[in-house]
Amino acid sequence: MTKVSILFDIIRWEEKALYEAGKKLGLDVEMVDVKEKAFNLSKDCGIEFGDIALQRSVSYYRNLHTTAYLEYKGVRVINSLHTAIVTGNKMFTTLVLQKNNIPTPKTIVTFTSDAAMKVFREEFNGKAVLKPVSGSWGRMVALLNDEAAAQAVLEDRDYMYPMYQVFYMQEYVNRPPRDLRIFVVGEEVITGIYRYQPQDDWRTNTARGGRAVKCEITEEIRELALKAAEAVGGGVFGVDMMESPHGLIVHEVNNTTEFKNTVPATGVDIPKIIMEYAMKEARR
Ligand SMILES: Nc1ncnc2c1ncn2[C@@H]1O[C@H](COP(=O)(O)OP(=O)(O)O)[C@@H](O)[C@H]1O
Ligand SMILES: [Mg+2]
Repeated sequence: MTKVSILFDIIRWEEKALYEAGKKLGLDVEMVDVKEKAFNLSKDCGIEFGDIALQRSVSYYRNLHTTAYLEYKGVRVINSLHTAIVTGNKMFTTLVLQKNNIPTPKTIVTFTSDAAMKVFREEFNGKAVLKPVSGSWGRMVALLNDEAAAQAVLEDRDYMYPMYQVFYMQEYVNRPPRDLRIFVVGEEVITGIYRYQPQDDWRTNTARGGRAVKCEITEEIRELALKAAEAVGGGVFGVDMMESPHGLIVHEVNNTTEFKNTVPATGVDIPKIIMEYAMKEARR
């Protein structure tokens, strides 16, 4: 019997659905709470984590470090350590996308608030988006739409952890009040949604009230999503795109993506498809 372990730190709707889908497929599924485990670096982990592990930890650091542990101990992880490193950092992701000729917003990185302010004025003409290089759910993603706002946000960053002093600044993309979240599993684009921004926010994250509506997958969307997924190393992803005046552009590739809102909006059984993929990969 194929054994799949699901690594988690919080059980959300997604992790329950993955567990149940695995059981239905006849897999031996083990839920592993990384908060309770001791990862002994000096020993082999044997068959403890089964034939393959599905990484679902919400915390960026737990996710990355437990993936590293398993991979170095010879357990395949979906997604791989390389992929977790690239997609867990917006700067690394942008670099990889650009290297692979995938359209992505103009982005400039600086390391002091003064240098960032200069870039804001001279490169972005006084309107830009500032993001932490690691983060999700739209947290601390700030729209700098005038000089005073920019100054306030950039100065605040000087008093935060060093990670926030990596000033990842991006052109504001003149898009409709929505973006696209496209789901890739292995070689397939399985479904996608538009996320409409709520009345009181410029960000479209469903964690901020963004509304999920089914998106028809065109050939252009399919090709772009697969190209982005391949560029970051392949696996299971939510590829985020925006409709810019010059066509579709990719702004993020999500590594441990949520799909609670996508399943009812699209009718696609995402947990089942992911577990089938894990099963196939385990036997490969
Ligand atoms: N350059 C941009 N131009 C316009 N809107 C953006 C831009 N970057 C991000 N957004 C909006 O902000 C949201 C959050 O940004 P994102 O880069 O996806 O960070 P997070 O990892 O927090 O989701 C996006 O889903 C989108 O709605
Ligand atoms: Mg996002």
